[in-house]
Amino acid sequence: MTTGKNDQGGSEAPHKHRSAWGHIIRGLWRTPLGIMSVALTTISATLMVLGIIADLLGLFHNPYVGVWIYMVLPICMVTGLILIPITAYLRRRQWHKSGIEKRPLQLNLSNPKHRLFLVGFIALTVVNVAIFGFVGYEGYHFTDSPYFCGMVCHQVMAPEYTAYQRSPHSRVPCVECHIGPGAEWFVKAKISGLRQVYAVITDDYDRPIPTPVEALRPARDTCEQCHWPEKFYGKKVKEFYRFSNDDQTEPEKTDIALHIGGRNPVTGEFEGIHWHVSKDVQVKYLAVDEKRTKIAKIKIKRADGSTDEFVDEDIKPEDGYTPKWRVMDCIDCHNRPTHIYSMPEDVVDFGLLSKKINPEIPGIREDSLNVITKMYKSRQQARDQMVSDLMALQRKRNPKIAEAHAADIERAGQYLLKGYLANVWPANKVFWGTYKGHLGHQWADEGYGCWRCHDEEHVDSKGNTISQDCGLCHDEPE
Ligand code: HEC
Ligand code: HEC
Ligand code: HEC
Ligand code: HEC
Ligand code: HEC
Repeated sequence: MTTGKNDQGGSEAPHKHRSAWGHIIRGLWRTPLGIMSVALTTISATLMVLGIIADLLGLFHNPYVGVWIYMVLPICMVTGLILIPITAYLRRRQWHKSGIEKRPLQLNLSNPKHRLFLVGFIALTVVNVAIFGFVGYEGYHFTDSPYFCGMVCHQVMAPEYTAYQRSPHSRVPCVECHIGPGAEWFVKAKISGLRQVYAVITDDYDRPIPTPVEALRPARDTCEQCHWPEKFYGKKVKEFYRFSNDDQTEPEKTDIALHIGGRNPVTGEFEGIHWHVSKDVQVKYLAVDEKRTKIAKIKIKRADGSTDEFVDEDIKPEDGYTPKWRVMDCIDCHNRPTHIYSMPEDVVDFGLLSKKINPEIPGIREDSLNVITKMYKSRQQARDQMVSDLMALQRKRNPKIAEAHAADIERAGQYLLKGYLANVWPANKVFWGTYKGHLGHQWADEGYGCWRCHDEEHVDSKGNTISQDCGLCHDEPE
């Protein structure tokens, strides 16, 4: 065995008959950097292989494990692999200090040692490439999984991920809508992903995450992979139940039959609400604000080839915003296809309808709305206080009734808390109504929904307007 002293000494015999390669390979073990790089490579490769096996066997259910197996450990291993030749190079540069003669590195295939070395090297390289190929493939799937998108950045994406999990698309991976097929958007997404990771690390991102998402891929490449506008849907009947503080027991019921349309299989005409996205039709609009809530002009091309332009002279660009024309697609109506948030009234009224909130308790609707919309500082504070806040309001109303209904009030409080936690994230500045939907005219006065255009205020050269006739979009079902 040679010692460190020997190595420094320089002129001792053992060096003389060692080849240049031998010096390098043995020398690796003698420098801290060398030991570290070899250890780093070996340990991370071992952990990675074990991790992959365990992951394939389904032993892990925690997404952070994936971050280690498919991201951290491979980076460690590559770092180790890069450091090894660097260490060797540094050592070689120092040879003259140890008095070793610098000989050119030679690979001599007739030398059995060299052959063995070469075979070993090739074998290791093949193994490494195989490991990396596998890790790259699995890692690619991992970074594309809803798990990764929603959980790894859990603090940032908590609202979107929660809303997504209870949506009709909870089995559709995030990337189907946010990236879609093809290499171009894949690369764009990974680059913007890196930027986002950086923004999260440096805590430099907007809260709430602003909408509309400017860089969202056009819907024809995403939504239309699964839903195609040519499909005919006919009418869709919806029931709406509304209670009021004066009447908590008998809801006002509204039925509407929406003219969803599509291409009518009988007439071949494209009709109804999905007319806007028929492939023979183009609707373009010029919004004068980033939120796309104020629309100044609309240009259309109809199936018969005729064109038209509707203008509302009163809508002027916001200061500093340069309006851009946008071709209308699914997102202009379905801006909340999966990150669907409720409003406090929806939660409370559903509670009354389903009797999760006992409608017999006087004033319970008003009190429920009060606690569920209260500005708690954090979700934890809501967890700690909401139920007792509801109880306190009820006691103030009538201590005796509150006592008699204590169990129901507790149950109502728990239900409201659940509704709150599904919709409000104070740390992300996401509150009730932060993300509004365009589907309908619930928020028409804030510039959301169909009435942005269907308001009888946008006029074409012949004086026609875009209709707000109730019967255009829905009627009362028979
Ligand atoms: C069915 C399609 C679809 C799926 C699946 C989907 N999203 Fe979205 N997402 C959208 C659309 C459309 C918008 C754009 C909303 C807008 O521009 O107003 C959006 C917006 C967002 C936003 C911006 C903030 C907001 O609420 O508008 C974030 C963040 C986001 N999505 C994250 C995710 C994550 C994380 C997943 C998976 C867990 C996911 N999305 C799955 C369609 C989808
Ligand atoms: C990977 C396939 C896929 C993609 C991509 C997709 N969807 Fe869907 N979507 C579905 C499925 C499946 C359902 C039916 C879910 C159900 O019935 O429970 C659905 C349901 C819907 C519904 C009906 C929801 C309801 O309340 O019943 C709407 C609206 C919708 N999608 C719009 C969109 C929009 C807009 C996009 C693009 C942003 C989109 N989808 C992208 C698969 C997809
Ligand atoms: C002009 C607005 C508008 C546009 C543009 C639009 N939709 Fe819709 N869509 C609606 C409305 C309104 C409904 C009924 C909503 C409801 O259930 O409350 C609907 C319903 C749907 C449904 C559910 C049908 C059912 O039977 O439940 C699907 C799926 C859908 N749209 C997909 C799309 C896709 C995909 C696109 C883009 C190609 C698109 N929509 C473009 C307004 C629009
Ligand atoms: C960007 C502007 C814009 C928005 C937003 C918009 N529409 Fe329209 N819509 C139009 C225009 C323009 C026409 C065609 C008017 C004409 O032909 O004179 C139209 C026509 C229609 C028609 C008649 C289609 C036919 O059969 O000929 C229906 C139904 C309709 N819209 C429903 C809706 C619904 C529902 C929404 C909201 C979910 C909505 N629109 C949102 C611009 C818009
Ligand atoms: C441009 C299309 C359009 C026009 C015009 C229109 N609506 Fe609607 N309306 C919708 C859509 C889309 C929905 C479905 C919203 C949803 O699914 O939540 C809706 C929903 C409703 C609802 C039930 C929603 C609720 O929250 O109770 C009522 C009530 C209603 N409309 C009344 C009217 C009346 C009254 C008129 C005429 C002044 C009218 N609408 C004109 C598109 C339209």
